[in-house]
Amino acid sequence: QMDDFITSLMKKMTLEEKIGQLNLGGVGSPKVVGSAIGLDEAIRKGLVSSVGGFDAKAAEDAQKFAVENSRMKIPLITGLDVVHGYYTIFPIPLASACSWNMPLLEESARVAADEASAFGINWTFAPMVDICRDPRWGRIAEGAGEDPCLGSRIGRAMVRGFQGDDLSKPNTLLACVKHFALYGASEAGRDYNTVSMDPVTMYNYYLPPYKAAFDEGAGSGMTSFNVVNGVPATGNKWLLTDLLRDQWKFKGFMVSDANSLAEMSEHGMGGAQRITELAMNAGLDMDMSSSLYVLCLKKAVEEKRVPLSRIDAACRRVLEAKYKLGLFEDPFRYLKNKQRQSQVLSPQNRDVARRLAAESIVLLKNSEQLLPITPPRKIAVVGPMGNVRGELLGTWSYGYSKDKMHSAYEALREALAGKCEVSYSQGANYIEDYCIYDGAFTIPTDSLIRRAIAETSDADLIIAAVGEPSSWSGEAKSRVNPSLPDCQKKMLRELKKTGKPVVVVIFSGRPLILTEEDAEFSTLVEAWHGGTMAGEALCDILLGKVCPSGKITATFPRHIGQIPIYYNHLRTGRPYSGFWATTKYVDCVNEPLYPFGYGLSYNRYTYGKPVLDKKKAKGDDDVVTLSIDITNTGKYTGKEVVQLYIGDPEASVSRPVIELKDFQKVDFAPGETKTVTFRITTGQLKFYNQDLKYDWEAGKFNISVGPNSRELQKLTMTWDK
Ligand code: IFM
Repeated sequence: QMDDFITSLMKKMTLEEKIGQLNLGGVGSPKVVGSAIGLDEAIRKGLVSSVGGFDAKAAEDAQKFAVENSRMKIPLITGLDVVHGYYTIFPIPLASACSWNMPLLEESARVAADEASAFGINWTFAPMVDICRDPRWGRIAEGAGEDPCLGSRIGRAMVRGFQGDDLSKPNTLLACVKHFALYGASEAGRDYNTVSMDPVTMYNYYLPPYKAAFDEGAGSGMTSFNVVNGVPATGNKWLLTDLLRDQWKFKGFMVSDANSLAEMSEHGMGGAQRITELAMNAGLDMDMSSSLYVLCLKKAVEEKRVPLSRIDAACRRVLEAKYKLGLFEDPFRYLKNKQRQSQVLSPQNRDVARRLAAESIVLLKNSEQLLPITPPRKIAVVGPMGNVRGELLGTWSYGYSKDKMHSAYEALREALAGKCEVSYSQGANYIEDYCIYDGAFTIPTDSLIRRAIAETSDADLIIAAVGEPSSWSGEAKSRVNPSLPDCQKKMLRELKKTGKPVVVVIFSGRPLILTEEDAEFSTLVEAWHGGTMAGEALCDILLGKVCPSGKITATFPRHIGQIPIYYNHLRTGRPYSGFWATTKYVDCVNEPLYPFGYGLSYNRYTYGKPVLDKKKAKGDDDVVTLSIDITNTGKYTGKEVVQLYIGDPEASVSRPVIELKDFQKVDFAPGETKTVTFRITTGQLKFYNQDLKYDWEAGKFNISVGPNSRELQKLTMTWDK
């Protein structure tokens, strides 16, 4: 039915109108078609397929205009970066990944879809599934971290949450998997920089999350700004056709990133006409905001450098998405839900955000058991992140909730009202005084510190709220030194000198290098940019209402010179040992400060001896189970993320020391023991070899289980063909 409908529609369309379906206007650029035509005029001429960055009123106006004034009356898609919420903002994706809680992540995407679709949005530029091993890159905030197994599961959960079980329901969003491909490997962590990668690394560690999200049924994907094998992704035929279409069988449509089509010229691929033809012939279906398709494709077809069949195929894919969204049946489907607009930020939605934010918080250190806090007489919150709201929302948040949320200080004051006095002092600026470039008046940090010390003199406990504001993380926000700025470090040193107990809470969009803070303080909490309910969630953790269960999904380096540092690294011929000529630094250990999968709890989970039901397995269909008894020896109801890793020490290509293959987030009552069982199959042993053949190889395997990638119990087994 859909095919027939689209075939008959396309028969009536002119070449210009077909090309118009390949043009996304309004995102990242005020231009709609070149600089010549305004939005209405472009829509009237059938030159716009979708619009981006819209509010409900503008979306409704544009849709009305399209279906009333364009010849073909084809409805528009409305897209926006609904990455971690719309009104109700969830923690940044790097944080929510630390929850390892797939149902909750899916629920967050469902809420985001429900809220955004009530305002006419029906396409989200998410999930972002770029693997990243470099905390200097500002966009590490937007992905799930460094691991392909976890990243794939999260990518799938988010696609399910956004798209629901039927895309035509008016509370769904078409997902857009981005940024295809390898954007997270930008050299030196500098955004938009080049990427260079061998095929075995690409296939085994970077590509799986994209494939998983596409396989889950995501209806669209976005190309990345970088090159892949030396060719810009936006015009890369190998990537967009040979791999994505021919091998992966992706059926949706591919859109460029904002202006990345035009930027192919900057990459040295030629002028406007040439790059347009390259991109279209490579398999890029839709152009975001450069207008080059509208400006150059007709000529390319007429002069036979782009086959009409390519335009038809791309146009059909876009029309199919519109059909599946139910827009042909009712172009105003996503605009009729005005009563739903009042449901944004509902108690239910806030509750999902609060639970996810609490499960995203990672307890990094609690060596003096300062946490959970037993309310003393007075708590002083000190630090530039302690009384901010919008700065806790993180990158890609629209600020709709910034006046309807609490800062950490406000939330704590409310939670402890009547029980304990809570004060606030700024303590420091975010950055060094000499860096404040926007002319805003600021009090020098030295004065702020003096003031804070005086104001906290009668406090029994200090909560130091440090980190980086939202505006330092995300797109184009790379940092050369991802650690706390000196002024904040200075504030911390002065707070330490007071001799009072200090809980250091870090709000950040990336793993920071916390080596100095780890050495100086007994208590560190990574609270990330936690979204609308960041304040309440932090209180839940600090006051013990929720037992911490978050575990980091990107390695926290000990020193900047260790970057890139990640747990699933390959072996070397000279693994570190006491011998002088082994892989090491002379001035720093190899190990990171906090390894992948690490995070503490108020409980202690005791891991028993893991047992494999057999030590020898055979053939493709064999299954091995690993069981382990785990006991919560603590007094809190809590959750533990139990992690299963496999190493393959006898393979035709060098394989990582260990790789995450499965995990379970298990609920525990105080004192409870549970047997956790993993099923190991040959699917988990597979990898891409030098010929990029995906299979498993017989031989020995190291199977390990534990609470993080460092504290593992190891078993060995053999698996024969
Ligand atoms: O979706 C984003 C992308 O991640 C970065 N450039 C702009 C796009 C649209 O906002």
